[in-house]
Amino acid sequence: MEDLSPKPGDLEPIETVSRDEIEALQLERLKWSVRHAYENVPFYREKYDAAKVHPDDLKELSDLAKFPLTTKQDLRDNYPFGMFAVPREQVVRVHASSGTTGKPTVVGYTKADIATWAGLMARAFRSAGLRAGDILHNAYGYGLFTGGLGAHYGAEELGMTVIPVSGGMTSRQVALINDFRPDGIAVTPSYMLAILDEFRNQGLDPRESSLKVGVFGAEPWTNAMRAEIEEAFDMHAVDLYGLSEIIGPGVACECVETKDGLHIFEDHFLPEIIDPESGDVLADGESGELVFTSLTKEAFPIIRYRTRDLTRLLPGTARSFRRMEKVTGRDDDMMIIRGVNVFPTQIEEQLLKVEGLSPHFQLELGREGRMDTLTILAEALPEAAGEEARAEMAAALKRRVKDMVGITTEVRVGEPESIPRSMGKAVRIIDKRPKD
Ligand code: DLL
Repeated sequence: MEDLSPKPGDLEPIETVSRDEIEALQLERLKWSVRHAYENVPFYREKYDAAKVHPDDLKELSDLAKFPLTTKQDLRDNYPFGMFAVPREQVVRVHASSGTTGKPTVVGYTKADIATWAGLMARAFRSAGLRAGDILHNAYGYGLFTGGLGAHYGAEELGMTVIPVSGGMTSRQVALINDFRPDGIAVTPSYMLAILDEFRNQGLDPRESSLKVGVFGAEPWTNAMRAEIEEAFDMHAVDLYGLSEIIGPGVACECVETKDGLHIFEDHFLPEIIDPESGDVLADGESGELVFTSLTKEAFPIIRYRTRDLTRLLPGTARSFRRMEKVTGRDDDMMIIRGVNVFPTQIEEQLLKVEGLSPHFQLELGREGRMDTLTILAEALPEAAGEEARAEMAAALKRRVKDMVGITTEVRVGEPESIPRSMGKAVRIIDKRPKD
C-alpha cells in the first residue's frame, strides 16, 4: 500500500492546536449554538423553560450536561420543518433519513451550512490520504441520504475530480473504476464487498486496480473487515462516521497514517458519552452512547442529540481532536440471545476468520419459547462450495461464535452469492420473531 501520510502544510491549523485552544473555541461556539436554538426553535425554548435552564447558564463546557437530551422522537414530533432555526427560504437543501419505522427525520442546511459541511468532508478525505488532483469514485447513494451529496461536495471542495456514480449497477461500477482509474472510492463497506465480487466475476484482479484508498462508513464494520478489504484491493481502508441529524458524513474520520479510531471534528461538533440508562455523562475512556451538539450549524442546530451509537472517547493522536473508537453497533442493533448482548459486528469478526466463507452474511432472529434464537446465514466462496465443505464451515463458525461470543447459534452456509447484496447500508438482521 502506498504511503499517504500528510506532508507539512497538508493539515489545517486547527487540527494541531492545543486542547486549550480547541476548548476555548468550543465554549464560544457552544454559547452561540444553544442560544440560537433557544431563540429560534420553539421545541428547545419550551423544553429548556420547563427544565429551568437557560443559555446564560453556560459558563463552561461541562454546564451543557444541565440541558435536556434530544431524541429522534423529538425530531419526528416536529416533522417536517419544525426544528429549523431559520426561515424556510434560507434553507437551500434538505436531506432525510430513511427511517425504517414511522416518519423520516428531516434536516436542513443554509448556504453557509453547506459550505461548512463541504469543508469538513474535504478534511475527512484529506485525513484519508486523498489530495487535490486525485480522482474520487463516489458510490454513496445520491438523494435524500446524506452520503452521496455530502461526499460529492467535499471532494469538489478539496479539488478532486469526482465521479458521481451513486450506488447500484455493480458491473458498471467495476467498468468505471477500470476506465477512469480513480485514486479513491467512497462507499459503504458492505457494497465494497459486492464490487469486489464483481471484479472477480469479470476475471479482473482487484489488486491491480488504480484504487489507493477507500473511505468507508454509514454502517458498522470491523477491523477484520478492514483487513479483508485492504488485502483484496491492496489499498487503505479508512473509517468515516457521521449522521444526518448532526450534518451527514464528516463528523469524524480516521487518519490514514494511524487508523486508530476516528478523530471527531471538534471545532464543529461537541461529543459526550452518556450512560444510556441514566443519561449521566461518563468520563472519557468509558463506553456508552454517543451524544452530539452542533456548534456552528445555522438551519438545524442540534443540542445534545442521542445518536444511539455505542463507543468511547479517547485522546487525540495524529490530530489534537479527541477520537471515538470504531462504532461497534447501535443500541437498536443489539440482540439479546439467552441473556448475552450481541452485535452483528461480533459475528462478522468470527465469520471472517473461517476460511472458505465469503464476507457476506445476515442474521435471522427467531423465538423458541420465551428465548430469542439466532441463525447465521453465511455463504461459501466458489472454491469451497461443496456440500461437505459447507457443513464443515458451518460447524467451525458455530464453534467460534460459541467460544468467542458465548452464544449458541444455528449456522447455515449457502451456495456462493446466495446472500442478498446491499447497494448502500447492509441489512444485517432479519427479524422473524412473532409480533406480540
Ligand atoms: O450514514 C452518514 C454517512 C454517510 C456516514 C456516508 C458515513 C459515510 P445516516 O443515514 O443518518 O447518515 O445514518 C447514521 O449510521 O448513527 C450510525 O449508526 C451509522 N454509521 C454511520 N457511519 C458509521 C461508521 C449516514 N463509520 C447512522 N461506523 C449512525 C459505524 C456508522 N456506524
